[in-house]
Amino acid sequence: MKIEPQQFSRQGLHILFDAACIERPAAEFFEPDYWRAQNALLGMAQGRAAACIFRYRERVFVLRHYRRGGLMAKFSDDYYLWSGLANTRAWREWHLLADMYRQGLPVPRPVAARVRRHGLLYSADLVTSCLPGVTPLADVLMRQPLPQAQWQSIGTIVKRFHQAGIYHADLNARNILLNEDGQVFVIDFDKGEKRAPDSSWQQANLARLRRSLDKFKQQHTQFYFDEQVWRYMLAGYDK
Ligand SMILES: Nc1ncnc2c1ncn2[C@@H]1O[C@H](COP(=O)(O)OP(=O)(O)O)[C@@H](O)[C@H]1O
Ligand SMILES: [Mg+2]
Repeated sequence: MKIEPQQFSRQGLHILFDAACIERPAAEFFEPDYWRAQNALLGMAQGRAAACIFRYRERVFVLRHYRRGGLMAKFSDDYYLWSGLANTRAWREWHLLADMYRQGLPVPRPVAARVRRHGLLYSADLVTSCLPGVTPLADVLMRQPLPQAQWQSIGTIVKRFHQAGIYHADLNARNILLNEDGQVFVIDFDKGEKRAPDSSWQQANLARLRRSLDKFKQQHTQFYFDEQVWRYMLAGYDK
């Protein structure tokens, strides 16, 4: 089913959605409280901010409110400086996801984005379709080691993104998801962008993933990551 982007605006409210997937959404489509009241809330997933998983007409979607990361979460940590709709976090990520999804890269299908402008600032939300049966790589590694072939396939997938010129601003062990069949997905393209393939940013992406894995290993008594499996990952990447 082809993605059909449609958008509309009224009084500082801007909504972008895939008309092939949902009907024109109202503002409440982006409110966790609305889905809770409908008894459609299925759960929350941990990230920088909680992502809300809800059911909508036999489908399952994930709703995320854009929030700045870090420990210094302040009152206004979900406001960003307005510099045009096309530059908002939600618009950029929605279109980048659509682009990657059309290319067959393993990312969630974008569903809808909302931007609310408040003068010089805006806040934003993104809805994607929920990838079924996935677990963040970090959580898997706290429970069990992964076979060599799985590490290689992670490397191969990261390479596919890089060959497509997709820069991920936060490639870490929570933004790589695995399903029960060992399929690898990448999420969270906030601040990601298309770039000319170049080894300097590609190596920086890999280094960030490595740091994330090292950090989990430091923080958890059981975490199945070491030099050997990193070499398997690189072998998949360099294949
Ligand atoms: N499309 C999706 N399908 C399944 N789970 C998702 C999806 N999008 C996000 N998640 C879950 O929600 C968590 C947070 O989402 P993410 O996009 O990484 O936002 P952030 O880290 O900025 O809060 C992820 O770690 C993942 O567990
Ligand atoms: Mg994340």
